[in-house]
Amino acid sequence: MRYSIILGARRDVHTKLKRPQRFPVSVAMMEIIELTEENKALYLVCLEDWSEEMKEAGNRKSVWFERMSSMGLRVKLAKADDGRIGGMIQYLPIEHSNALGQDSYFILCIWVHGHKEGRGNFQKKGMGKALLKAAEEDAKSLGAKSMTAWGLTIPVWMKASWFKKQGYEVADKNGVALLMWKPFVEGARPPKWIKEKKRPGTIPGKVSVTVFSNGWCQVINIVAERAKRAAEELGEKVVYSEMDTTDRAVLREWGISDALFIDAKEVRTGPPPSYEKIKKKIAKRVKKLR
Ligand SMILES: CC(C)(COP(=O)(O)OP(=O)(O)OC[C@H]1O[C@@H](n2cnc3c(N)ncnc32)[C@H](O)[C@@H]1OP(=O)(O)O)[C@@H](O)C(=O)NCCC(=O)NCCS
Repeated sequence: MRYSIILGARRDVHTKLKRPQRFPVSVAMMEIIELTEENKALYLVCLEDWSEEMKEAGNRKSVWFERMSSMGLRVKLAKADDGRIGGMIQYLPIEHSNALGQDSYFILCIWVHGHKEGRGNFQKKGMGKALLKAAEEDAKSLGAKSMTAWGLTIPVWMKASWFKKQGYEVADKNGVALLMWKPFVEGARPPKWIKEKKRPGTIPGKVSVTVFSNGWCQVINIVAERAKRAAEELGEKVVYSEMDTTDRAVLREWGISDALFIDAKEVRTGPPPSYEKIKKKIAKRVKKLR
């Protein structure tokens, strides 16, 4: 589970983009609402309509959304008193996630906008808790026996400790990524991670660039777009391939949900490396080819 780390650092990236807007935020009468056509564009950029970087992700999330909507994807938004959307949660049947389990919904991410930019900071005012509760109630009403989430042991994005505080327990571990779980009924079965099975290899006489993309995470979407562009610009010595890990067979084969590899080496994607940095790394490998 890599997207966790990626996302963790994205906040630092965005603080580069200074915007003067600051609004006082009031959530005393906050409301949890369903995703509407009106809010869809905002949801698709993770509430960061102010971010130039988000635009680099192209339409990947939109394509993913259309596909997953028919596979049980659920989205809820938190609306502040003044109508501004401040938080979101997205979750789907665990069968379509990168964990193994039954009768459970998997939280891809919960995000309460915390940047000063754009709509402002809505965190620590109860939105996160309200979104999680609404998602759990929804999952129960759909017949789920448990809720599953992922969280990190390191204090960046998606802290496992936050879910622990909300009544979740550890079901499985994969490095720093914990699979958190809240059973709703007696006899519910705990989920397990799908773990890495293999990595991309090398191609004789070429440099291979491989992106594993889950579609829902804008960070890996940005990385994919940058890597693809860099590979194309470097010409025929570079072979770019993409693994669509929303395809369960692909996910099961590799056990990797989202990542960037140059030959067999994984490139850290948190924060998303710049286009220039990715291109430089690939070019360095090209130079080493005989
Ligand atoms: C974590 C997050 C979803 C919480 O939402 P929120 O609206 O800020 O939190 P709430 O106001 O609902 O607070 C719920 C509880 O979490 C605590 N909390 C909030 N942010 C926290 C943080 N960053 N670390 C630890 N605890 C936190 C609050 O103190 C509160 O505790 P209480 O129930 O004892 O009062 C939100 O801060 C966020 O989006 N963070 C960044 C993304 C992220 O990490 N998402 C994954 C969640 S682990």
